[in-house]
Amino acid sequence: MPAQPRTIAVLGGTGAEGGGLALRWARAGHRVILGSRNPEKAAKVCADLNAAAGVDSIRFLDNRAAAAAAEVVVLTVPHAAQRATVEEVRDALAGKVLIDATVPLVPPKVSRVQLPAGGSAVAAIQALLGEPVRVVSAFQNVSAHALRDPAHDVDCDVLVCGDDPAAREIVIGLAHDVGLRAFHAGPIANSAAAEALTSILIAINIRYKVPGAGIRITGVPAAPA
Ligand SMILES: NC(=O)c1ccc[n+]([C@@H]2O[C@H](COP(=O)([O-])OP(=O)(O)OC[C@H]3O[C@@H](n4cnc5c(N)ncnc54)[C@H](OP(=O)(O)O)[C@@H]3O)[C@@H](O)[C@H]2O)c1
Repeated sequence: MPAQPRTIAVLGGTGAEGGGLALRWARAGHRVILGSRNPEKAAKVCADLNAAAGVDSIRFLDNRAAAAAAEVVVLTVPHAAQRATVEEVRDALAGKVLIDATVPLVPPKVSRVQLPAGGSAVAAIQALLGEPVRVVSAFQNVSAHALRDPAHDVDCDVLVCGDDPAAREIVIGLAHDVGLRAFHAGPIANSAAAEALTSILIAINIRYKVPGAGIRITGVPAAPA
């Protein structure tokens, strides 16, 4: 069991990245709720993730109800749906930590850095929500492919950006719970760098024909795994 079991809503948890995080957190002993627009799809994904994680604790609700039921909310929807999804659940986010894993990819050139005006997709959400919600940027550089294979550890580190150090600490703890080293990486504005890095990792995946290149931070031996 994790040091502090939490109820975590993963909005878009039926997808690749959110499903991988949900699986790993459920396996670690957290209570996970998938948020979805589609109950039939969510029921099937929920059953698959419970089976893969070897648990029966993962549940699903619509995005709004999932966000309301959780103490920590995770956003894993495509960039095009990021703002609308946040607007839909906004009332349920006050006082909570919102972990946003959004990468502002612009298909079809997803291996090219194309950040939105203002620099960071996640910082824009913190600006939208204001002080009542502590937005933390994390997991942009963790490949869904690696997360979805519970037989193997995920071979990369996590950059955690946010304006509230205590909220970053919560997210670092959640990363540690699934065996990932995670680092305080500065304020929410720094999320731009993590978001941009993902296109570089995609370019590396394509060039070297691998499914999930990742990053490692060196020179910080004390950071726990
Ligand atoms: N894939 C990766 O390796 C990876 C790695 C790091 C970060 N990320 C980031 O994580 C986020 C999710 O990536 P993903 O690959 O998991 O995406 P995905 O599988 O394409 O989509 C995730 C979920 O988002 C919901 N969704 C899709 N379109 C939507 C819309 N128009 N409005 C509301 N919800 C919608 C769907 O859930 P329902 O149909 O159930 O509602 C879907 O299952 C993205 O921002 C991505 O950049 C991905």
